[in-house]
Amino acid sequence: MRATDIIARKRDGEELSTEEIRWFVAGYTADTIPDYQAAAWLMAVYLRGMSRRETFDLTVAMAESGDQLDLSPVIPYAVDKHSTGGVGDKVTLVVLPLVAAAGVPVAKMSGRGLGFSGGTLDKLESIPGYRVKLSDDEFLRQVREHGIVLGGQTKSLAPADGKFYALRDVTATVSSLPLIASSIMSKKLAAGANAIVLDVKVGAGAFMREVEEARALAQIMVDIGVSAGRQMVALLSDMDQPLGEAVGNALEVREAVETLRGGGPADLREHCLTIAAHMLRLGRQDTASDGLERALDDLGALLASGAGLNKLRELVEAQGGDVRAIDDPNLLPQAHLHEVISAPRGGWVARVDALRVAQATLELGAGREKKEDPIDPAVGVVAHCKVGDRIEAGAPVFTIHANEEGRLVRARAQLDQALDVVDHSIPPRPAFYATIYGNE
Ligand code: URA
Repeated sequence: MRATDIIARKRDGEELSTEEIRWFVAGYTADTIPDYQAAAWLMAVYLRGMSRRETFDLTVAMAESGDQLDLSPVIPYAVDKHSTGGVGDKVTLVVLPLVAAAGVPVAKMSGRGLGFSGGTLDKLESIPGYRVKLSDDEFLRQVREHGIVLGGQTKSLAPADGKFYALRDVTATVSSLPLIASSIMSKKLAAGANAIVLDVKVGAGAFMREVEEARALAQIMVDIGVSAGRQMVALLSDMDQPLGEAVGNALEVREAVETLRGGGPADLREHCLTIAAHMLRLGRQDTASDGLERALDDLGALLASGAGLNKLRELVEAQGGDVRAIDDPNLLPQAHLHEVISAPRGGWVARVDALRVAQATLELGAGREKKEDPIDPAVGVVAHCKVGDRIEAGAPVFTIHANEEGRLVRARAQLDQALDVVDHSIPPRPAFYATIYGNE
């Protein structure tokens, strides 16, 4: 086979065979196909798209391009979750301990934040001492002993995706449904789960701005998972405004701890319980019609009893973190400068723009533009209102947590454009738009 023929066939809108896709992915992973040919191929895929069968073949080829984790010796039936990325999304920090506390072991590999979207690993690393890098043996031992492990993805997992993703980032080929779906699902398949819950975000602070676009992405990923023999559930959730109140690494850990203590913002609590209930139902392989309600009831009880919080403590301790920072979140990194932004007028909140809030936190140094950029764990923004709230003029709407005056000024400029207040009442935004089930 020749790379130029495969590029030309895709350029001309033809459907590639399974063998062609496997050959191309293997060649790129092994460096026998250079970046310039892979870039041309990615652009052809971007412009011409892929059939369901091609997308599935690409996913499997990338999943099989490196190590594949076998969780079966330690978890007979493993359940995983994945969020397509958002603003204030600390759901994993709440959901994993809750599901583990309910008796379903969870072994999850998470990613770092990039651009406006935060990453669970960065949040975890704001807990002093927490180790995200575990060997495969440590990863498996921990889930066997504690029923929970939450670390970084190893380089040997789906290495083809790592290479393609870096190339997509610099060739304007990120926003392609088959490329996004295969990228996400290749890592999920290689990480060894039997069942996967996808949280597909929609809105200003998400990859997908429109519900129908998000639904299409979710459906492709569900189809890929089902074709690979996995149980799948995808939820479409709102990411037009930040999830919860806190955006920024240590601030989000604090909010996750508050939520596991039974407090925390109502939207975050509802979101976490819903995702956790789907995971728990799948993990229990409970196909009864009331399986989801039963899971929700059990999780509510675990939240109330503090069992979820205890599991988070156990996780942090097992991974070398300082549990005192969970018991007293004031021990998490804290910023020196605080500024409250007040509502310019009274009325109803019509918009709390997740992208603007994310850009403000980037200005503060909470995230990174490039993979190697350092981040400041302490800084961020707390949004005190939600769409639909009635507020008075002068009420606090955002608090900025900063470590540098210049950054604070730039963050404030973003936040000045993040809020709309109107004279008429506005309904709250829905938490979820749809739930898509794979064949069960
Ligand atoms: N997340 C991924 O892992 N891959 C993509 O292509 C987009 C989001």
